[in-house]
Amino acid sequence: MKTKSYLLLTALGFLSSSLFAQDYLVSTPNTSLLIKATPGETVKIQYYGSKIENSDIQGIYDAGMVFNADSYPAFGLQTMGEKAIAATQPDGNMSLDLKIEQVKQYPTKDGEVTEILLKDKVYPFEIKQYYKAYQGTDIISTWIEIMNNGKKSVTLYRFVSAYLPVQRGDNWLTHFHGHWGAENMLEEEKLTNGQKVISNKDGMVNTETDNPSFMLSIDGKPQEEYGHILGGTLAWTGNYLLKMDITNTKLNIIAGINEENSHYKLESKETFKTPEFAMTYSTSGKGGVSRAFHRWARMYKLSHGNVERDILLNSWEGVYFKVNQEGMDQMMKSFSALGGELFVMDDGWFGNKYSRDRGDSSLGDWTVNKKKLPLGIEGLIASAKKHKIKFGLWIEPEMSNTKSELFEKHPEWILQCKNRPLSTGRGGTQIVLDLTNPEVQDFVFSVIDNLMTHYPEIAYMKWDANSCMLDYGSPYLPKEKQSHLYIEYHRGLNNVLERIRAKYPQLILQACAGGGGRINYGILPYFDEFWTSDDTDALQRVYLQWGVSCFYPAIAMAAHVSADKNHQTGRYLPLKFRFDVAMSGRLGMEMQPEDMTEADKEFTQRAIQAYKGIRPIVQFGDLYRLISPYENKGVASLMYVAPEKDRAVFYAYKMNHFINMTIPNVKMNGLDPQKKYQLIDLTPLSKNKPCSLHNKIISGKILMEKGIALQTLLKNEYSSIALELQEVK
Ligand code: DGJ
Repeated sequence: MKTKSYLLLTALGFLSSSLFAQDYLVSTPNTSLLIKATPGETVKIQYYGSKIENSDIQGIYDAGMVFNADSYPAFGLQTMGEKAIAATQPDGNMSLDLKIEQVKQYPTKDGEVTEILLKDKVYPFEIKQYYKAYQGTDIISTWIEIMNNGKKSVTLYRFVSAYLPVQRGDNWLTHFHGHWGAENMLEEEKLTNGQKVISNKDGMVNTETDNPSFMLSIDGKPQEEYGHILGGTLAWTGNYLLKMDITNTKLNIIAGINEENSHYKLESKETFKTPEFAMTYSTSGKGGVSRAFHRWARMYKLSHGNVERDILLNSWEGVYFKVNQEGMDQMMKSFSALGGELFVMDDGWFGNKYSRDRGDSSLGDWTVNKKKLPLGIEGLIASAKKHKIKFGLWIEPEMSNTKSELFEKHPEWILQCKNRPLSTGRGGTQIVLDLTNPEVQDFVFSVIDNLMTHYPEIAYMKWDANSCMLDYGSPYLPKEKQSHLYIEYHRGLNNVLERIRAKYPQLILQACAGGGGRINYGILPYFDEFWTSDDTDALQRVYLQWGVSCFYPAIAMAAHVSADKNHQTGRYLPLKFRFDVAMSGRLGMEMQPEDMTEADKEFTQRAIQAYKGIRPIVQFGDLYRLISPYENKGVASLMYVAPEKDRAVFYAYKMNHFINMTIPNVKMNGLDPQKKYQLIDLTPLSKNKPCSLHNKIISGKILMEKGIALQTLLKNEYSSIALELQEVK
């Protein structure tokens, strides 16, 4: 039955001129997607771009600017070209003939959904295609539900989330490639005819080598603040495949789960739901794409997206596995004296039969090591209370080691191929739990549940995952469903995370996977933030955080100040530079604070204090990237502007250093040209010697049209600057 809202929302379909009776416009404040859905035919994408009104539709048709492209081409009939879905029926028929049965448009609590039902003309097989415009954002997402209404199982070989045409022209792809310690490095290239594929086959950690997010420019080399750019991301934390299929006249984006080795047996009456593919369309370059995704993340896709994050010290680079009561107490004391708010005890605190002293044992044995921590978690919480900070700890609950009590007790809980020796990872002993098994899911849930039941004061957990899936075999899944492993693993993980979130909504969770291995919108809804990379070298972090910032907001980007010399690259950098870089994300520290000189401690106290003042601007403001480190201009610069444009934070970093080098001036962005701003040096090297811009009052117009000169501000190697801008009335 059609509801009132249903009728209202379908008004375009019913009330607009008969010419467009089958056109459905899905719009956000600044973007529109035009879909043609005629009963008995296939769904066509006609337009995706900047916002159009109903009255513009005729013009779009008349201008010849409609794609008329199938939104979900099925394999089997007219077999040419890339397809979105392929399935084999019980009688061996490999074709599908899906035609529109019904279209609905209705509001939900967070947006408006267009739902299109397509049925096969002969077989009891149907799909529902969804498009959702998220309220108050410029994000439209799409996903598919596939239903087998027959009596026997159907095998799915292809089941993408999105198949989307893009205007062919001078198209450039921006994507994010990486490696451990260098995740999310930005890459840009002109697309030529053929196919460009970005994929992941790790099974577990899906953003270490590539990220399932990309931008595609329509009109030339992508620019930061102008030009038309489509941004897309697949909200999935497992294997994925993003394919750009390009000819002289056409460009299609195909995005979904990577189906390789994952054909899926869809049982009678079962529904298969694909992950969501989210997209935006910006007419203000890459910056517009980023700001749209950041807003969406904070509103809908990040746990506690509207709550300020604490400044934390993580113990890892300070003491590594050498965790003990005195050491933790000392770190908490020192950090609290610096103004810190939360202490996180990293790896090394657990295991009694096998003590966790290296990376080669004890995962799964989540009991406090009595020798290292004789007072238990209680002792640590007591220390935290004494030092007036919060307490959190590290876990890696999806994993075990062959040297662990868990493995001795439950060898059947480990992913393993039948009749083959077990492959191992980190330390030569790390193995992966079979999360397809509900008993294992209960166990993983109980790791968090036990800790939280006994120690409800635990404020934060860092959830690590330091392995790929290793062996592709599940002792739990039946033999005919072994190919479901990559998918069922993540369904199992999501089940556990749902339960944790339902029972412990306040717990702060960090997603870590050997560094930045889980920075994706599939896992983020359960987490408050991610560990951006194990590489804490501030210079490399400028590049790395730049890449991450293209799709993920600063509030979620853990950025820690670490020791000099840096443990990953061996580089020495001024403490100011290290702070100025970390202060552009979610500030934290990752070192032994007691190793700092008194002068460094004094600086740190001031920097932490300053960050507390600007925290809402960084964590909730709009990002403007000003000078890219990837352009090799010797300087990188960015800023955040509060939504009211009354406050902003500006950063600039000297990336290399030569005599007589040209240092570009930098034009700010996002300010109000009519407003005047007072500039405040946030991190002067010594308290009474702020930089020459300190306390100057300059109009938004000058700051944006002329900019500021960096030549004298960034004189030395690795010099940097962090300024607050405050409106002066
Ligand atoms: C990998 C993480 O990325 C590090 O930060 C640290 O937690 C180690 N694991 C601990 O084993």
